[in-house]
Amino acid sequence: MTLETRILDGADELRQFAEVHAVAFGHRFEEERLAKLILPALEQVTCVAAYDAGRMVGVSVDQRFEITLPGGRFAPAGGITWVGVLPTERRRGALRALLDHQHADFRERGVPLSILYATQTTVYGRFGYGPATVRAIQAHLDTRYGAFANPLQDAGSLVMIDDPSPVAIVREVIERSRPQIPGEVDRQDSGIADMFADADRKQFRVAHRDAAGRYDGFATYMVEPDWEHEAIPRNRLVVRMLLSASIEAHAAIWRYLLDLDLVRTISISNRPLDDPIRWLLAEWRHYRVRHVSDGLWLKMVDPVAALEARGYETDGRLVLDLEGDRLLLEAEGGEARCAPTSCEPQIEIDRSMLAATYLGGVRFTSLRDGRRLQELEAGACRRADLMFASQRDPWCSYEF
Ligand SMILES: CC(C)(COP(=O)(O)OP(=O)(O)OC[C@H]1O[C@@H](n2cnc3c(N)ncnc32)[C@H](O)[C@@H]1OP(=O)(O)O)[C@@H](O)C(=O)NCCC(=O)NCCS
Repeated sequence: MTLETRILDGADELRQFAEVHAVAFGHRFEEERLAKLILPALEQVTCVAAYDAGRMVGVSVDQRFEITLPGGRFAPAGGITWVGVLPTERRRGALRALLDHQHADFRERGVPLSILYATQTTVYGRFGYGPATVRAIQAHLDTRYGAFANPLQDAGSLVMIDDPSPVAIVREVIERSRPQIPGEVDRQDSGIADMFADADRKQFRVAHRDAAGRYDGFATYMVEPDWEHEAIPRNRLVVRMLLSASIEAHAAIWRYLLDLDLVRTISISNRPLDDPIRWLLAEWRHYRVRHVSDGLWLKMVDPVAALEARGYETDGRLVLDLEGDRLLLEAEGGEARCAPTSCEPQIEIDRSMLAATYLGGVRFTSLRDGRRLQELEAGACRRADLMFASQRDPWCSYEF
């Protein structure tokens, strides 16, 4: 089949886009949800569709982000989402055509990275994406084991937020927290508003202010009631969002959640694996992480620009064979230069696996042991691990 791809425009095309996407995922949008939430959200992003003989068969969205890199640096990243192909048209190249279109656009605009969340682990590696962050899909905590090992130290204060869509507060917290976390992304006000679009009246919001009165923490939660024999309260607290720009705010919000009356269990989703809550708790074993999985997938649209954009923990020199291209990476004083070379390669790696290491969350030595790269010179992977290390586990709070 001959596929054409193009950017969509106008309400009718966006409606068709939403329909194709819904069919690909096996559901239907209610008209009210479509009109109030979905179509306004699609108007904020770039919607691309693949056509076969004039019929829309596949869809994808390109959303622009700025992503935090190791070393506290930033780079533009093209976020890909809303990917779906009609079930009857699968495996005929629609996804490939859509991604080719979007990657070409990123290249043209000088965007060195692309990011996405993958519904399956086997699809995106062939396009150069690698799983670059790991997350706890869910964690649970029994509040009876919620005592901290050390007393809470907090010169700030907590405040309940009445506004059902507190965009300015969340923006302030994100802008202060994201430089600290490799893999974290910025958000437009419309994106923040979307995070609250689905919230119902059962959602509560709490924010933390530092001693100077500036917002540095934010959480949303819902209480699911559970009264055993209508006498013993053991409500379940579902925490949807927890953002913090300081350990004081993080600890204060956790203390608040753990101390809510009548709550027996807390469940929280999408957490970094190095969440300090484990070490705040005296009985840290009761913070039970369930379902560890990949988070953000990343592609180096321009590997040389991408490798020069991030910071490096240690000085070092590395020659990579990247799918036949030899690259010399020389890091000094936190930054690196990268250029084609004729030197003998020390590590042979494909684009997907190099992308997995990019944010510092996946070790070269692990990939070597998992037979995902070739260490051609002894010690090269260990050296690469030290160079690519990240000060914190990479994580992205936003599932787009
Ligand atoms: C996943 C999906 C988008 C793939 O679209 P598609 O048009 O069938 O993909 P293509 O035909 O362009 O395939 C491109 C390549 O990916 C491979 N591929 C596609 N789907 C795959 C799958 N589910 N598992 C493994 N490989 C897959 C193809 O074999 C092909 O490989 P090749 O070019 O090396 O031969 C489509 O099946 C779909 O809409 N699924 C349901 C919704 C979904 O999961 N969306 C993804 C959101 S991240």
